[in-house]
This record gives sequence, C-alpha cells and structure tokens, in this order.
Amino acid sequence: MKLGILLSGRGSNFLAIADSIQQGRLPNAEIAVVISNIADAPGILAARERSLPSIIIEAGGRKRAEHDAAMVACLRAHNVDLVCLAGYMRLLSPKFLQAYPLRILNIHPSLLPAFPGLDAQQQALDYGAKVTGCTVHFVDEQLDHGVIVLQKAVPVLDGDDARTLSSRILEQEHVAYTQAIARACSGGYHITGRRYVLRESQT
Ligand code: GRF
Repeated sequence: MKLGILLSGRGSNFLAIADSIQQGRLPNAEIAVVISNIADAPGILAARERSLPSIIIEAGGRKRAEHDAAMVACLRAHNVDLVCLAGYMRLLSPKFLQAYPLRILNIHPSLLPAFPGLDAQQQALDYGAKVTGCTVHFVDEQLDHGVIVLQKAVPVLDGDDARTLSSRILEQEHVAYTQAIARACSGGYHITGRRYVLRESQT
C-alpha cells in the first residue's frame, strides 16, 4: 500500500506513521510521497531529512480545484493508493474526493461528531467535556464528517489547559493513525451506511 501524506505544519502524525513503517508495525505500507502546501512546514523539512520524496505544492492564489488538480496529479505520479491527511489545513475539492473514493483518511483531535473544525481541544475544554479524544475517519465533502474508522478516548482532567489536553490526545493520535492504516492495508472491513465494520479476524 503506497501512502501519500499531506501536511501543512508540524508533522508529528506523519513522523509517527514513518516510525511505524520503519519499526515494522506497518509491514505492507510505504510512504510514496509527502506533500505540503506550506513551503517551510516543519513536517516537510522532516520528510526531506528522512530522504522521503517531499514535494511542496503551494496554492499561490490559485482556485481550490486548480491546486487540488496539481495535488492529485502528484499523488497519481507516485502511484499512491491511500491518502493520509496529517494536519493538512485545506478542504479538499469534490474532484479530489472523486479521485480517491474512500481512500482518503484524516485525523481529528476530538471524538466526532463532537467539536469539529479548528481548536477542537479548546472546544472540549470550553464545553466542559470530561472525555474527549481523537477520530480517524474517511474524508467526504463535509468538514470532519466522513465514515469513522476508529476513535480513542482520553480523560479531560480538572487541571488541563489546551496544551496539556492536546498533548494527551496527540499521543493517542499517533497510535490511532497507525492502526487505521494497518486496517486499510489488510482490507479486512466493510462499510455499511456510516458504519465501518471489521471482519472478525481483524482487531
Ligand atoms: C493534529 O492534532 C491532528 O489531529 C489535526 O492537526 C494536528 C496535526 O498535528 N488534524 P501534526 O502536524 O500531525 O503534529
């Protein structure tokens, strides 16, 4: 399974995936390309340091459809099977979604459908939630909305601020993304409506 990683920033989820591959936890996956829409994103610099194919495709004032066409062309040129959004801060156009149906994953730092959009951790704190977490889901045309692959819960502690809560969630994000990719590689699931159901032999 050839992965295309899209990012815009820090890239800790990308690095967790890269480590999982390197350490044998994703034996059937390889990173075919890392693409950033931000030239100096730390994630793309880290990809370059690891000698992974690293490409910058800035929007540069282009329309979303035009920028996405360049992204899709790049993913296709690298024979990508599964697109993993890892802190990619742009919405995808319908054409992009059609190019990879049920083959684009995203990770979001809340238990969706609670707290979609930006600053999900602060949203959980402000709401007074006692439990939050992260969600890996397929991307569809609505923000933070597609079929859920898996979720991990973490407690919200009384002393938390956005920083401490974010780092507790992030630890789980790194585990969750690897698990979700392992499931995608195995193909041991089916989707009925919004329900992603594992075959019995899968965990
Ligand atoms: C993560 O919290 C992820 O859930 C959200 O954006 C953040 C990206 O972090 N979509 P990183 O760039 O992977 O460190």
